Amino acid sequence: MLIVANWKMNPPAKKDMIKLVESVEGGLWGIKGAATVLAPPFPWLNFVKRRLRKSKLGAQNTFWEKSGAYTGEVSPQMLKDSGVNYVIVGHSERRQKFGETDDMIAKKVKASIKSGLIPVVAVGEEHRGSFNSDGSLDNHIDSIVGEEVKKALSLLNPVEVRKVIFAYEPIWAISTTPGAKVALPQDALSAAIYIRKILTDFVSSKSAREMPILYGGSVDSKNVAAFAKEGGVDGFLVGGVSLRAKEFVELVENSLV
Ligand code: PGA
Repeated sequence: MLIVANWKMNPPAKKDMIKLVESVEGGLWGIKGAATVLAPPFPWLNFVKRRLRKSKLGAQNTFWEKSGAYTGEVSPQMLKDSGVNYVIVGHSERRQKFGETDDMIAKKVKASIKSGLIPVVAVGEEHRGSFNSDGSLDNHIDSIVGEEVKKALSLLNPVEVRKVIFAYEPIWAISTTPGAKVALPQDALSAAIYIRKILTDFVSSKSAREMPILYGGSVDSKNVAAFAKEGGVDGFLVGGVSLRAKEFVELVENSLV
């Protein structure tokens, strides 16, 4: 299991951030079988890095150019040289609140891989699809998620494609979405199957089966086991709960079913 903690723009003060990373890392110390990634805001990468005992370091965003007149941006190589291993690309908050397009995301994915970072590419539809009479989901997911997956991979060769981790995050299930709904393991399973099907357009079916796919959206210490057992995914992208050390550690433990 791979669990990525997306802290977003939290915690608000340095002392809370230090407490969070120390409690999380202390709690994770005895747990075997889970790989964890902590993705703090940029200015705290180094503070967090120095306190990591178990987890790898992640960033929440990157730019695609190497250097130049791009005020406020951070390149993949700068992240790599700061000890970052993973970078979240295309989170729905970046897409919705900062106008990131599929083309920008494709460039970010390419540049991240070129600098040796592992991109965790978030994809997901805004509104919940409905179930067909046979219990499968309608093609709502297919059109939106399928396009996002294809575009994200559009600049990559097959070797590069195999380095990408997709995180299926239906926006309607993210805890901070007003009126968020609880997703079912079946939602994650249908999306994971569909994403793997798209991946076979880019790589062999063996590679498509082996590429990790994560689920994100209101994952907590209680529902994680069902998603791990029945959701057909290899890990989780966790927002809200990743800010509560004790529950996050429980979530990691409970994901190992
Ligand atoms: P959530 O956030 O776990 O709070 O729903 C997930 C995310 O936005 O990455």
